[in-house]
Amino acid sequence: MTYTIAFAGKGGTGKTTLAALIVRALDDLAAGSVLAVDADPNSTLHEALGVEVERSVGEITEDMLMSSGLTQPGGMSKETWVEYNIQRYIVETPSFDLLSMGRPEGAGCYCYANNLVRGCIDSLSRSYAYVVMDNEAGLEHLSRRTTRDVDLLLIVSDPSVRGIRTAGRLSQLADELAIRVDSRFIVVNRAEDPLEPVLQDTAGQTGLEFLGTVPSDAGVTRCDLACAGLFDLPEESPALVAARALLLAAVPSLRPRAPQASAIES
Ligand SMILES: Nc1ncnc2c1ncn2[C@@H]1O[C@H](COP(=O)(O)OP(=O)(O)OP(=O)(O)O)[C@@H](O)[C@H]1O
Ligand SMILES: [Mg+2]
Repeated sequence: MTYTIAFAGKGGTGKTTLAALIVRALDDLAAGSVLAVDADPNSTLHEALGVEVERSVGEITEDMLMSSGLTQPGGMSKETWVEYNIQRYIVETPSFDLLSMGRPEGAGCYCYANNLVRGCIDSLSRSYAYVVMDNEAGLEHLSRRTTRDVDLLLIVSDPSVRGIRTAGRLSQLADELAIRVDSRFIVVNRAEDPLEPVLQDTAGQTGLEFLGTVPSDAGVTRCDLACAGLFDLPEESPALVAARALLLAAVPSLRPRAPQASAIES
């Protein structure tokens, strides 16, 4: 069973950073295979993960729509062709795979293309233990881009009353969408631990459970300035330590990684 983690939150709160930190934390915990999905048309997850994307799903779809007829070159059905190309352009690393959705399809009704792509991505996702989905601010597109249920929705906020109230509204919006969200929490990024009592109270008023904070981390800033991915962060980097703790608190089936034999002996 694939466990899907999705991020929401207003612009610039740290969704992409936290998505990348969670991918890294899953790898650190040896949790299982991970598919990272960049569902933000203004794609940046690959940068946060330190990899390059050759072709996005949006570009592959455009290619398909440009060609007329029922089949693609080589006599493949359009469905097989899209599936083949999505597999071909997936970024593979030893720690995770990445699929970048890219820009949504251009003007016009592309329901057929959208459904085809959705079907391909849903069946692809099923072969991973975890799917980590970074999103643009807002939530409306989530139901357009995937039919998958979300096991864990992390709504990211800055440490402000207004930010946390916005997170609460986003959570209400999730209820209006036709996607099932199993559990959802608010995560306050660039915040001190413990969180200011007034912010804890505000989180309580939204009806959302507060999962924890991620501190402002000079290592994350350094990675950003060096155009390096967050896999370059040292293991004890404060934001990464926090991401691992959040993950363990939110996903009941996860366990801390057992110490390596050599570490016990030394
Ligand atoms: N905990 C942190 N410590 C230091 N810098 C951070 C932290 N979290 C986020 N940042 C920085 O803040 C900036 C915005 O973060 P990010 O791109 O993750 O936000 P976002 O919510 O994905 O934005 P958008 O809505 O535009 O997609 C980035 O430059 C990132 O490096
Ligand atoms: Mg982002």
